[in-house]
Amino acid sequence: MLVVLGSINADLVFRVESLPRPGETVSCASFAFHHGGKGANQACAAARAGAVVRFVGCVGEDAWGPVLRRGLEEAGVDTSLLATSPRPSGTAVIAVDETGENAILVASGANLDVSADQLDRAGLGKGTTLLCQNEIPLATTRAGLARGRALGARTILNFAPAVAGALAVLDEVDVLVVNHGEATRLLDRDLPPEAAVRALASHTRTCVLTLGRDGALAVGPEGAWHVPALPVEPVDTTGAGDTFTGVLAAGLDLGLPWTEALARAAVAAGIVCERLGARSGQPTSEEVAARRAELPPVLPLALS
Ligand code: RIB
Repeated sequence: MLVVLGSINADLVFRVESLPRPGETVSCASFAFHHGGKGANQACAAARAGAVVRFVGCVGEDAWGPVLRRGLEEAGVDTSLLATSPRPSGTAVIAVDETGENAILVASGANLDVSADQLDRAGLGKGTTLLCQNEIPLATTRAGLARGRALGARTILNFAPAVAGALAVLDEVDVLVVNHGEATRLLDRDLPPEAAVRALASHTRTCVLTLGRDGALAVGPEGAWHVPALPVEPVDTTGAGDTFTGVLAAGLDLGLPWTEALARAAVAAGIVCERLGARSGQPTSEEVAARRAELPPVLPLALS
């Protein structure tokens, strides 16, 4: 079983010709609502990949709350530990340009009220996995990871969005998933990808560094690999990292070999970029299997 402790948002997505620069107003005809939030996106990606998933988070006592809860349930995620708070539900305003690139503003709202105590009834223990991100208060994430660790669960942290000065959180983490920018914030220095993944792997157990269209690097006691990206024409890259992380976590929780878990994560992340919305485009395990042959081989990484 996979427990996701994290955020859930209503995403208001604006398709624009180009992303606004400071001081600029950019117009488009309309916007669309999509289900979002890094934690909830990862939970749904994992459920679609075949894992049994329980989401632990918080929505507002507003009109969005039941809508967001339903979005998780429709993806097959257990919401019995989704709490409510008097703050408004988390909301993100997302601009997506013609190349699929995005800019995101998040009002955290109810996500600020998530508590590690909600994990008490989550069923964490040996043979289970706890997955966290950085969209709820760092102290809560850290307390949750420590609790998961103490109970014998595998702990995974997607360090997104990055916050500076948080290297100590890695003490409680078995698998760290970061992109290159997040790695730079975490390490407080800009290293080339191979050096960054190696440096971070020495602070945790295994580090997976995602590199967009250049794929991902993974380094840990199990081995070191370069995972290529699925060749795609991106429509919207929002949530690609969430899909990657959720599918990877599902694969590890289900006991897949590392190379297969990484490959499925890369295929799923590629597919979600072909569709609008962080979550609505997430593929099922059948869709991932159907596109698996398009992924170039996962190769061992010779670390210099
Ligand atoms: O990673 C994408 C997510 O970031 C969006 O769904 C948005 O809600 C923000 O949390």
